[in-house]
Amino acid sequence: MKNRPLKTIIVGGGHRSLTYAQLANIEKDKMEIVGVADPDETRRNAIAKQFNIPAERCFRTSDEIAAIPKFADAVINGTMDHIHVSTTVPLLKAGYDVLLEKPFSVNEAEARELVAAAEKYGRKVMVCFVLRYAPFYRKIKDIIMSGEIGKIIGISTNEYVSYHHMSTSHVRGKWNNSDRCHSSMLLAKCCHDLDIMMWLMSETKPAAVSSFGCNMQFTKENAPENSGTRCLVDCPLSEECLYSAKRLYIDHPDRWSFYVWDALEHLENPTIEDKIELLKTSPYGVCAYKSDNNVVDHQTVSVLFESGATGTHNMIGGTSYGTRTIHITGTKGVIEGDFEKGVFTVSKIDPRPGCEHEDTVYDVKINNDSHGGGDLDLVRDFVAYVRGETPSVSCTDISDSLLGHLVVFLADKSMENGGQPEKVIV
Ligand SMILES: NC(=O)c1ccc[n+]([C@@H]2O[C@H](COP(=O)([O-])OP(=O)(O)OC[C@H]3O[C@@H](n4cnc5c(N)ncnc54)[C@H](O)[C@@H]3O)[C@@H](O)[C@H]2O)c1
Repeated sequence: MKNRPLKTIIVGGGHRSLTYAQLANIEKDKMEIVGVADPDETRRNAIAKQFNIPAERCFRTSDEIAAIPKFADAVINGTMDHIHVSTTVPLLKAGYDVLLEKPFSVNEAEARELVAAAEKYGRKVMVCFVLRYAPFYRKIKDIIMSGEIGKIIGISTNEYVSYHHMSTSHVRGKWNNSDRCHSSMLLAKCCHDLDIMMWLMSETKPAAVSSFGCNMQFTKENAPENSGTRCLVDCPLSEECLYSAKRLYIDHPDRWSFYVWDALEHLENPTIEDKIELLKTSPYGVCAYKSDNNVVDHQTVSVLFESGATGTHNMIGGTSYGTRTIHITGTKGVIEGDFEKGVFTVSKIDPRPGCEHEDTVYDVKINNDSHGGGDLDLVRDFVAYVRGETPSVSCTDISDSLLGHLVVFLADKSMENGGQPEKVIV
């Protein structure tokens, strides 16, 4: 395996799996796609064509792969959140190492089941916490590990989910109702952020968590006067409403296209008329104030660490632009940055006469990558890990990825109980 590409199967052929599988097109010595499983025939056939996969290596489900003798080294599992554990465990048992999308489970019991299965079958599972691989967070991790800012006293992270991202994914889209998608807003959106917090704070462990949040904006009571139920069917406000499906998706037909137009994937070149027709019946055309969403639009999480340090994470949806920000205070200095700008400053206490602090600015901007350059580096590290090479400091091995998920589950429990603190038992 060291001197040949990692033979890899795609399970769940959505846009995430395909993003990771691009490594097979770019660095052929590292990965080769040799099989696919997806119940969706259009997707299965498109992937088979793209990677020249023979018909006998095309399957409907992951279970069909697990039931036959092993024919590859690894699997990229990009199915939806709530079937990550049920699809992965049989593949581990069948001898595959797995690159698994986040969230890797939707509750604590399944999270522990997956960690135990990886151990029992002696397989490697890496979780797609792509932000750990973005140069922005990697550099911050290096600086913390170097001791430059001393011992960490407090860490604050914020995720601002833009109005178009919020409405597409969480108000109208696939993660708008936890009864269907089985993920809370915090799990779907911020398991990344709480993973980053746990990773940067690896000198200690979380001890307790509390959380508050609610849906303030996207309710029927807040619907504009005279609004209809569907933007392109019965609403007179489709030219002015901030959340008009016409303004969000017809005026910007390429933005979030992999979600909004996925029902048109069977058409080679869908026209704008096809898209308008789809929005008349698809979830993305429902009034943002009258959809059946039940997830929060903002939530705050507080974490107490065993070292005495404290952490906070705020998620706020519906902002004019999306970004993540971070502020870490150590005993010798501060790190403060904005992920989308790709810039952070390290400010160190400078006791020299006439000085107060010494600032260094780091510019690690990566253009045209929604995860700041993390996606393909994660896959490269997965290949190295499976081949038995030393993985990077970012490596998102399942056992190292559990803490962030536990904090999310406990934060949601705390929020449901009015902010009552929850003890973290690892
Ligand atoms: N890492 C990130 O930053 C990031 C970003 C966005 C989404 N995600 C996660 O990626 C995952 C996939 O998202 P997506 O939008 O690509 O999903 P998707 O719904 O487009 O794709 C999932 C695919 O799985 C297939 N499938 C269902 N059951 C299956 C089975 N038993 N065996 C094989 N295939 C099966 C479906 O037919 C579908 O094609 C989700 O868990 C999501 O939360 C991660």
